[in-house]
Amino acid sequence: MMHAFDQITAESLRAGGWKKWLEFGSATGAWVAEMDFGTAPAVREAVRRAAEDGTGLGYLPKRSLLALQEAFAGFVDARYGWRVEAPDVRPVVDVLTAMQAVVRLTSRPGSPIILPTPAYMPFLTLPGALDREVIQVPLTRVDGRYAYDLEALDAAFAAGGHMLVLCNPHNPVGRVLERTELEAISEVVERHGGRVFADEIHAPLTYPGHRHVPYASISPAAAAHTVTAMSASKAFNIPGLKSAQLVLSSDGDRSVWERDGHIYEDQASTLGALASTAAYAEGGEWLGDVIEYLDGNRQALGTLVAEHLPGVGCREPEGTYLAWLDLTDLGIEDPARFFRENADVAATSGALCGDAGRGCLRFNIALARPLLTEAITRMGAALR
Ligand SMILES: Cc1ncc(COP(=O)(O)O)c(C=O)c1O
Repeated sequence: MMHAFDQITAESLRAGGWKKWLEFGSATGAWVAEMDFGTAPAVREAVRRAAEDGTGLGYLPKRSLLALQEAFAGFVDARYGWRVEAPDVRPVVDVLTAMQAVVRLTSRPGSPIILPTPAYMPFLTLPGALDREVIQVPLTRVDGRYAYDLEALDAAFAAGGHMLVLCNPHNPVGRVLERTELEAISEVVERHGGRVFADEIHAPLTYPGHRHVPYASISPAAAAHTVTAMSASKAFNIPGLKSAQLVLSSDGDRSVWERDGHIYEDQASTLGALASTAAYAEGGEWLGDVIEYLDGNRQALGTLVAEHLPGVGCREPEGTYLAWLDLTDLGIEDPARFFRENADVAATSGALCGDAGRGCLRFNIALARPLLTEAITRMGAALR
């Protein structure tokens, strides 16, 4: 059966000004983490109303903050069974700024950042800007499925690392970690008195059979050593509205934030907060439809890769709309460049995700299915 998203065309996306479709000429946009499906009607309405009556154009008033905190708390309770107190939900401009704040304010000064790789690209470069080293800890593979290497994680803490960046659901490999895996990670962190920055920006985007478990929700110990960042920006496709939420879950971090958090909170966008509130409170139906469509895409991807890209490793993502294609057996130096030049498809080079990503490709499946099919077919022709 046709879905309205099937009708979306490259021309309409370019005319709409989407970065994913504008930066690489005529190439299919399968790189930056935007979706081609617009956003939820409730979000559109919130933005329209804000512009029309001017309520979204000033600094963030207390009542809008309260509405955001309550909508967020309701959303995470309903979806993940995570009970957070509204005042623990803090507005920030985006998740990368949240990470800077959390590293600066809550990790041992000067300590290296522990980063499981492959990783979201800016995680590799942002610590350097804060004068921090990165200790890359390659994920391991168990039956082809990525998993944390607990011994290597232990060694990274032993080598002086203090803060672990725990990205779940995982960009780029698409894993949704299970509770037992989170518990095992937490044991290692606790053993070393470590800290966790939990980036759960993709949390709403999990597929049937997988359920997001907020890391800070697994135990009092995990809550005490963690600061969490979430946002409506990926699931509701509003990264340009610049709004994320940081969740405090320990008294120590609450007092640090009370003292210094205003520097970051002052950057938060009012329009973004209004849109996020609408997304969390009223966007559920649209989100359900998007997840169903993406689920169809990830299944189609499996079939398409098997047919057109023999020798390419591909596990369907458990969460996120980012697929991870392993081309290491084909010996292509830079797969992203190869497909840009030979298939007119723009995806992300795995090498940008750390040493463990070399020879791989991050491919964004949040495309109209006909465009997804066309792109993979062209990639197959290029390989042949
Ligand atoms: C895992 C992850 N973290 C953070 C970000 C960036 O989020 P923000 O735009 O809120 O800084 C992204 C964007 O794709 C992401 O995938």
